[in-house]
Amino acid sequence: MKIDILTLFPNMFNGFKNESIIKRAIEDKKVSINTINFRNFSKNKHKKVDDTPYGGGSGMVLMCQPIFDAVNSIKKKNSKVILLTPQGKKFNQKKAYELSKEEHLILICGHYEGFDERIRSICDEEISIGDYVLTGGELPAMVITDSVVRLIDGVINTESSKNESFNDNLLDYPTYTKPRNYNGMKVPEVLLNGNHLQIDKWRKEKRLKVTNEKRPDLLKNKIIIEKNGVNEKKNKIYVDDIKNIKVTKVKEKEKTNVYKLSKNSDIKAITLFMPNLIKGYKLKGKNKDKKVNKILIVKDEFIKKIAMKNVMKKIDILNYRFNLALSSDDEDGTSRVLGEAEMLKQMIINMYANYLGNENLDKIIKNINYLVNEFVKAKTLQSSFVNKEINNQRKM
Ligand SMILES: C[S@@+](CC[C@H](N)C(=O)[O-])C[C@H]1O[C@@H](n2cnc3c(N)ncnc32)[C@H](O)[C@@H]1O
Repeated sequence: MKIDILTLFPNMFNGFKNESIIKRAIEDKKVSINTINFRNFSKNKHKKVDDTPYGGGSGMVLMCQPIFDAVNSIKKKNSKVILLTPQGKKFNQKKAYELSKEEHLILICGHYEGFDERIRSICDEEISIGDYVLTGGELPAMVITDSVVRLIDGVINTESSKNESFNDNLLDYPTYTKPRNYNGMKVPEVLLNGNHLQIDKWRKEKRLKVTNEKRPDLLKNKIIIEKNGVNEKKNKIYVDDIKNIKVTKVKEKEKTNVYKLSKNSDIKAITLFMPNLIKGYKLKGKNKDKKVNKILIVKDEFIKKIAMKNVMKKIDILNYRFNLALSSDDEDGTSRVLGEAEMLKQMIINMYANYLGNENLDKIIKNINYLVNEFVKAKTLQSSFVNKEINNQRKM
């Protein structure tokens, strides 16, 4: 792989390229990392690369010409041009894996106030390394280069990248080294007994536990497990294991109870909204003890859809109740159904708001308010009509 970094400060990369794993990767010819000072491409006699922004405002803006010319001089068919900017898509391990498969990366480091907007037109992608603003794109370029290079085949031991944080959307397991006991803090016994099956199991458990505690958001779209009448704790299935398991759809009559893998809110939502809908998948293959007989993989969008469906059903029932109240002259019925409408709104806000999203929630509340207003209007018309009738009858 080749990585070209366009920067005004190539010296910043000296330490980065000359230490540790990156240095070795360069020496082993796994990657070549070149810094290119795009000032050298400036056609201005003073080698100027920036100017004041049109429309006024503070700071200096990088000009198109030096950057366009620098990119054009190195860009090939297989190149991926990446602009480093706080406005880009947030960088993560998945992106690092993706980029590690590219043949040629061109990273453009901005500086000062930023760059001329037209520079975006020559870039394939915009990447940010987080929601904060740095003085230049050099540190982001190093962050991306570092995380990408260590994933190139042969740069680090593949065993060490297999279980590390963010693989399979799980964090790494805890690690210990000598001594066994440091100031009363002991290394877990299981790591000392040499039983690799047990160690493996412990590590898998820890990865899931640590992720659930520290980054439950990573488990969000993951899994729910299901099994029959066995202690829930003993019945865990791990994300790693799922990869090796063939799944087939479960037949209706094989439905069993649903158990939760973690307490995250989406799982709560499923058991709350659709206990009868859960079908899941039957497990085959590497599931010898048969303790787990089903998994369910759920997407946020699906939960939203189900939550919406449930709420719409409740609104239909409310509408029906309004119509009933309109066709009856029971005064209590009127206040009862208005009370029900209020309660329904509260219930939706308390129980469904998280799953519907603000836009849907807003629409639903407006919808209920509309029904209430229409009902009150119709009821008022109805009673004024009845009063008129009574008056007419009195006059006769
Ligand atoms: C001071 S910043 C410019 C910020 C710009 N005015 C804005 O508010 O979006 C200068 C350069 O640093 C780089 N940079 C700063 N923060 C970054 C981040 N979080 N991710 C990637 N690049 C960043 C970009 O190349 C940017 O053009």
